[in-house]
Amino acid sequence: MIDKQSLHGEWSSRFAFILAATGSAVGLGNIWKFPYIAGENGGSAFVMVYVVCVVLMGIPIMMAETMLGRRAKQNPVATMQTLTKEAGADTRWQYLAWMGMVAGFLILSYYSVIAGWASAYTLKAVMGDFFGSDAQKTSVMFAEFISSPIRLIFWHSFFMLATMIIVSKGIRNGLERAVQMLMPVLFVMMFLLVGYAMTTSGYSQGLHFLFSPDFSKITGKVVLTAIGQAFFSLGLGMGTMMIYGAYLPKNVSIAKSTIIVASADTIVALLAGIAIFPIVFANGLQPDSGPGLVFETLPIAFGNMTGGWLFGVLFFIMLVVAALTSSIALIEPAVAWLIESKEMTRDQACVRAGLVAWVLGFVTVLSFNRWADVHFFGQTLFELIDALTANIMLPAGGFAIAIFAGWMMKQPHTEQELALPTMQYKIWKVLISYVAPAGVFLIFLHVVGVL
Ligand code: PFF
Repeated sequence: MIDKQSLHGEWSSRFAFILAATGSAVGLGNIWKFPYIAGENGGSAFVMVYVVCVVLMGIPIMMAETMLGRRAKQNPVATMQTLTKEAGADTRWQYLAWMGMVAGFLILSYYSVIAGWASAYTLKAVMGDFFGSDAQKTSVMFAEFISSPIRLIFWHSFFMLATMIIVSKGIRNGLERAVQMLMPVLFVMMFLLVGYAMTTSGYSQGLHFLFSPDFSKITGKVVLTAIGQAFFSLGLGMGTMMIYGAYLPKNVSIAKSTIIVASADTIVALLAGIAIFPIVFANGLQPDSGPGLVFETLPIAFGNMTGGWLFGVLFFIMLVVAALTSSIALIEPAVAWLIESKEMTRDQACVRAGLVAWVLGFVTVLSFNRWADVHFFGQTLFELIDALTANIMLPAGGFAIAIFAGWMMKQPHTEQELALPTMQYKIWKVLISYVAPAGVFLIFLHVVGVL
């Protein structure tokens, strides 16, 4: 048995791990991305496939990724090196960790830009800009907002700096505290918004759009997007859960913790959908209006509900914090790697990693204005980075993790780490060895046109 202490410390309890992993999972992916891609992919068809993906692939892979991290207790690259040695597998498995780190950077680069929008909207909320809003006003406000590269770069820089400062403080002080305070507030706010959505004339149409089963709308693209979103939203396939697992004490149940995290993540995404679509329909907005959807809908709610000023301010603060707890998770694998392999201090590692992602973020900034007409394969540069990471790199990472955990690692080792009753272990084993990899693989084949 590998018995190492992680260089970076350990979570203080199971609860701390659950909060941190929920912090990584719950973020812009739930509140900003889930609603708009559900809107672009047929609503209920997407939601159904999404939930199935979370259960059959997301949870087993989340367990596997956490397990790999806890077994080796190092950064993702070193973890894969240690575990391949232990399993007697090909050393090239470590490329899995490299790909994860690259994906993390690419995601962080645009994530910080969008989190910058949320930061700017916090200020707008404070200034009372949403007062009396209607669809026309919020759409114009958003279009005007994203038209200025300088403004977007300013807010992107603000957010990236905040990420770097928090990560430089290390896991106990930085991550744990931030998450512990804010996750409960987020849940309360989501329920409040759903409460408002219930009062609008679009409520039943919104629910119908999200939940009434419509199998005819399920296409290859819908399924791939749903898989990608499941990986993105749970924060899988790129080493984050590996690194968080590395900080996890040995006596904590991986299965229970990951199921709690995945459930919380899915509930927040669904609540976001239930809050947003009624407003979309009540105000004649388009469900498939893209990345601006949340920014065009929720200000209408805040501008018209009682106590809207306060709720608006609280909501956007909370969205920024939810994004922060995810961005620190996105950067942490690279930071841990720089500290362990390049012998940097935590501060140096944070500055290096943050700067690279910050510069990359300019591509996303420009693709919403100056380069809005630059298209490759029919997509803007932002859409391309998003598709490359969420629809290709994360599922490929998840696929590799599944194969490694299901086929390469020795069974006594996975049994020992997961410590599950026999039946539950068997179910996990089937899901991780067959169902999850086959699912991802078939979808890939479909997308490249082989099926
Ligand atoms: N899960 C985060 C979200 O839904 O916003 C994004 C994310 C965090 C993706 C951490 C990947 C990751 F490793």
